[in-house]
Amino acid sequence: MRLAVNIDHIATLRNARNEGEPNPVDAALLAEKSGAVGIVCHLREDRRHIRDSDLRALRRAVTTKLDLEMAMTDEMQRIAIETVPELITLVPEKREELTTEGGFDIRRHFRRLAEFLEPIRAAGIEASIFIEPDRDAIDLAAEAGADLVELHTGSYALKEGAEQAKEFERIRSAAAYAAGRGLRVVAGHGLNYRNIAPFKSIGEIEEVSIGHALISRAAFVGIPEAVREMLELIG
Ligand code: PXP
Repeated sequence: MRLAVNIDHIATLRNARNEGEPNPVDAALLAEKSGAVGIVCHLREDRRHIRDSDLRALRRAVTTKLDLEMAMTDEMQRIAIETVPELITLVPEKREELTTEGGFDIRRHFRRLAEFLEPIRAAGIEASIFIEPDRDAIDLAAEAGADLVELHTGSYALKEGAEQAKEFERIRSAAAYAAGRGLRVVAGHGLNYRNIAPFKSIGEIEEVSIGHALISRAAFVGIPEAVREMLELIG
């Protein structure tokens, strides 16, 4: 399994002082050099961490794969087409949430989805949709022309014991189903050094997207070591 590193919280820390340090681009380059195959950032409507200037700088600097997480809005569609990340990931977005809660409501947005993705994909950008691990959502993602789905692992991360094992099986089954529908599969949200190990056994999941746990660990040991430790667990 490969690792993509979400560097949003480097920007959160930078914004605490509103000066230049720490610089999200420096973090991205260190993560790439340490073995991450992609850099993820979420340009939120309220710009609470990553800002437009960060996105432009990341686009210039990232040489592996830049994944722009974004809401399904006209503004974000325009920014994606101007920036040309390798990948966009559609996520739900509510102003008041602390982090992305739940998957993208693909049923609600389905009518506009194919039309929304069309110019993005025409610009040479791959499209992923962050969904709950369920078959209906996977069917709709495939129908809308997504290249990938990112299976939401947030519920798995919040559960324990038998409940967590049940949620894990739901993710495993969804991954197999999505691959059967011709979608590439990645996973993310709430994954950390303690709960990631079982994912190695799901062959269809080619990559995990990890932010908070990895950046938190990096505060103590540095990004290269935090990436190395995660790669050791998933490799
Ligand atoms: N994947 C998606 C779609 C997300 O929105 C997030 C959080 O920004 C992540 C992965 C990473 O989650 P975490 O920060 O909990 O590792």
